[in-house]
Amino acid sequence: MKRRNFIQNGAIGIMAGAAVPFSFSCTKEISTVGDATSILSTPLCDLLDIKYPIIQAGMADVAGPELVAAISNAGGLGILTATMVPPDILKQRIQKVRELTDKPFGVNLILHQDLFPPKEFEIDDSTVEEVQGFLNGFRNELGIPESKSKPPKLPPLIQMALDVIIQEKIPVFSVGLGNPSKDIVAKCHANGIKVMVMVSTLEDALSVYDNGVDIIVAQGSEAGGHRSTWEKKKSKEFAAIGALPLTSAIVSAIKIPVIAAGGIVNGKGLRAALALGAQGVLMGTRFIPTFESMAPQSYKQKILDSSSDNTTVTDVFTGMYARVLRNKFTEAYNDSNTPVLPPGRQYVATVDIIKEAGKRELPEFYSLYAGQGLDEIKEIISASEVVSNLVREAIES
Ligand SMILES: Cc1cc2nc3c(=O)[nH]c(=O)nc-3n(C[C@H](O)[C@H](O)[C@H](O)COP(=O)(O)O)c2cc1C
Repeated sequence: MKRRNFIQNGAIGIMAGAAVPFSFSCTKEISTVGDATSILSTPLCDLLDIKYPIIQAGMADVAGPELVAAISNAGGLGILTATMVPPDILKQRIQKVRELTDKPFGVNLILHQDLFPPKEFEIDDSTVEEVQGFLNGFRNELGIPESKSKPPKLPPLIQMALDVIIQEKIPVFSVGLGNPSKDIVAKCHANGIKVMVMVSTLEDALSVYDNGVDIIVAQGSEAGGHRSTWEKKKSKEFAAIGALPLTSAIVSAIKIPVIAAGGIVNGKGLRAALALGAQGVLMGTRFIPTFESMAPQSYKQKILDSSSDNTTVTDVFTGMYARVLRNKFTEAYNDSNTPVLPPGRQYVATVDIIKEAGKRELPEFYSLYAGQGLDEIKEIISASEVVSNLVREAIES
């Protein structure tokens, strides 16, 4: 197999005394030869000061301090969610991560152009009536108060969280659904913060590269959670490129580290990503069923019980397209032909139902974000075991 293009100063990986089928760039000294895991060491590991190129996605309502610290302690990079987290709570969570690990970690924010800053939308009363009328059916089933009101604009929590990230000099600022401006990137760099941005098209990769970011995450359409675009596309058919062609195209076009994401759950996925020229993987869904994740127990169990064919892409939870497990919420909403409110407003309209469903372990009414790697997720284990399994499988595969 040919040496990969981005190899600049690395050695051919050696495993058990034999050359492995393909080589990875490795800036570590010869002393790591003989350590089988050195074949996984890419320049990204040096850039982020981590042992393995395994990054945990910053997942809203899932990635708290315990999960983040466990992954960073295991040699990967944990990323704390900051989306919709008020600044005082975010500071406490950052403090907690720092108590649990002295390793690098990241903080994630979504910078969608309709949320950052929160946009004004004209929404007519009849649409609000239709949406709330439909959602009241769920509220009645859950026994929570009905609502008739127009969902208000979101508070400016994203700007507040960004200020905290900069003040706290977090090692890595991870961005989803947005293109941080040159000013934001410069401010991060001035504070020693690396900027990692997730995109789902080559065009968006070129735009974020132009703004000076350090690392690009190529998010394939297999990914769980929101499609990483900063505007809502005409339909879910857009920006829906598989991880394989997307990663390959971005690696060919851009000479900064690229991380592959979407449906990756094991060592085979990690090897495949590296073979494409990615310097690491970012995984979300595999970390939901771990002891340390903040996800409700019934959500963790659903991930184990579901197959890769059980996901759908929908905007019914937040007004932005996201891959989730089909459940009563998604199916009844679709069947009803009820309109969906604009990005963010749909979230404000549905959040009381989702929170109640999470609290009461009722997955049929919950937003079950999940990617297409489900067929190979079999058990709830510790986050560090996920990382060590990945490393072992990648070496063995
Ligand atoms: C439960 C869940 C929540 C997510 N929340 C966020 C988020 O808040 N910010 C973000 O940038 N990406 C978020 N994502 C998307 C991930 O960044 C990533 O693209 C995805 O998890 C990769 O695919 P996989 O889930 O198949 O591993 C989320 C994904 C999941 C599964």
